[in-house]
Amino acid sequence: MVSLKGKDILHGNQFSKKEIDAIIKTAGYFEKALKKKDSLNLLKGKILATLFFEPSTRTRLSFETAMQRLGGRVISMASAESSSAAKGETVADTARTVDQYADVIVIRHPRIGSAKEAADAAEAPVINAGDGAGQHPTQALLDIYTIQKELGSLKNLRVSLVGDLKNGRTVHALVELLSLFRAKLHFVSPESLRMPEEITSQLKERGIEVMETGDMKEAALASDLIYMTRIQKERFEDLSEYERVKGSYIINEDLLKGLQKKMTILHPLPRVDEINPNVDAYPGAAYFRQVRNGVFVRMALLSMVMGKAVD
Ligand code: NCD
Repeated sequence: MVSLKGKDILHGNQFSKKEIDAIIKTAGYFEKALKKKDSLNLLKGKILATLFFEPSTRTRLSFETAMQRLGGRVISMASAESSSAAKGETVADTARTVDQYADVIVIRHPRIGSAKEAADAAEAPVINAGDGAGQHPTQALLDIYTIQKELGSLKNLRVSLVGDLKNGRTVHALVELLSLFRAKLHFVSPESLRMPEEITSQLKERGIEVMETGDMKEAALASDLIYMTRIQKERFEDLSEYERVKGSYIINEDLLKGLQKKMTILHPLPRVDEINPNVDAYPGAAYFRQVRNGVFVRMALLSMVMGKAVD
């Protein structure tokens, strides 16, 4: 029996295949349930706190939507400036404080390791919604749910991950999950934004096939799925280096025509210029469906860490 009751969700590497299957199944249950009803009562009386020390649209709002669809309530801190962090409070003290109010805590913070610090300080389950250039495990889970739905299976996946693989926390978490399904991975990036060596070598040690290249078209021809990412401007110390690499990879109609095959295109969003809006109407462009799936997956995670199983 899989149970995530009371568990923190901090890193893509913490999940077993069985747990991922259970999360996908539970998310599917909620997706169906919401077709019949606007909201459920599973987490009635429970409170979620969202602590966002970095900008967010989808992650914060989809967690809040998920909690409210489950009948729970939300208290929210939407910016560092509006909280006592601006007065110098540590993440641990903020987490210990919010622990007195809420039953589950979601945190996003610019520093790697900050979600773990919050988890160590709070008794309530803590969910990492992005710790700097570190990890973003709930995005990875909703990506996996989307891949399962769009491609019908997680077997024999051939995936191109494109863009800022150095600073992109979504890809750092996603490759952990993809490795459980033995996916073949193409890492496509400018030389200066390659996937951290530590992650690549761990994947290879696990026997995962990893190809690194600068050529998106070549990688896409050998893949069923392109996972596009934004160049993470806010992580650059030197903005002239950002100017040098921005616009390195762009998906447009010409590229898709040149591939002459169906591709599924995912992106955690927000996009800047890396997917031309002309591509949005293409049947394989799944990134707004991916956004919607975030609600079902976060409903699954919230109900599971609160110990409310649905079957
Ligand atoms: C991502 C993030 O915050 O890491 N966005 C998200 O959560 N959907 C990706 C990004 O900001 O580029």
